[in-house]
Amino acid sequence: MAETQPITLITGASAGIGAALADEFARHGHALVLVARREPQLQAVADAVEQRGHPRPRVMIADLAQPGAADRIEVQLRAAGHEVQFLVNNAGFGLMGPATKLDRSEQLAIVDLNARALTELSLCFVDSMARHKGGILNVASVASFMPGPGMAVYHASKAYVLSLSEALHQELKPRGVRVTALCPGPVETEFQARAGMPNDYFPPMLARSAERVAREGYGGLMANRRVVVPGSHNRMAALLPRLLPRGLMLWIMSRYRQRRAP
Ligand SMILES: NC(=O)c1ccc[n+]([C@@H]2O[C@H](COP(=O)([O-])OP(=O)(O)OC[C@H]3O[C@@H](n4cnc5c(N)ncnc54)[C@H](OP(=O)(O)O)[C@@H]3O)[C@@H](O)[C@H]2O)c1
Repeated sequence: MAETQPITLITGASAGIGAALADEFARHGHALVLVARREPQLQAVADAVEQRGHPRPRVMIADLAQPGAADRIEVQLRAAGHEVQFLVNNAGFGLMGPATKLDRSEQLAIVDLNARALTELSLCFVDSMARHKGGILNVASVASFMPGPGMAVYHASKAYVLSLSEALHQELKPRGVRVTALCPGPVETEFQARAGMPNDYFPPMLARSAERVAREGYGGLMANRRVVVPGSHNRMAALLPRLLPRGLMLWIMSRYRQRRAP
């Protein structure tokens, strides 16, 4: 039988947190396959990894919001002799505005990418991850812990990511497969412009760099932590919904949105 190479598959690696995660995994000696839609940006991330003295990542161009994208990735990986050891489901986006006013198909694309594609990929490679003692890092958000009026579909999609990841963490433990939900607070990336979010939307004390988030996410996955929330202020924000009545939490969230993004 032909030799197979264990690899780390990172989605949404052409920018932001995904690019930082590519760097972090490369620094720890992982062979990488990077996925996103924009080839020049993805090649630039691969160039940067190579220039730091690591093997050049392979890039795969795919729109993960399209049906069948995960299957096509699986077929391409198999043809190249790659076996997924670690999977990083990072690709995602959100939209700010009232759910009834935002474009419906764009909001459904959030579900397709943040939830559907992530689920499909998470379930695709479990056998090879078990063989290579690997795991899954799913990028959720502090938004996972609370409903988000004014960003309803995004918050709901991230609540799904957290719930799925925690359940898979438990289910896959006996097979030796690690599963971690990485729940960052605000990180300055292309995310804000794509979401239609004002630049000064979040208090600066919550913000963390993509590099720091990637470092904590990597460490958390290797230690098989169920959930990683980078930054003490963000950990407090994630705790609030467990302490406050749901109605009060919703009121706080909508007041904040009305004041910061009228
Ligand atoms: N930034 C924050 O404040 C923040 C906070 C909490 C959680 N997060 C989460 O962190 C993850 C990364 O976000 P980011 O902040 O790094 O945002 P970003 O800079 O906008 O990067 C998003 C990445 O996802 C890729 N992507 C978007 N749509 C895609 C599609 N249909 N198919 C394949 N790839 C797609 C983008 O690449 P292409 O455009 O080239 O396809 C890009 O590489 C997301 O899941 C986000 O929800 C972000």
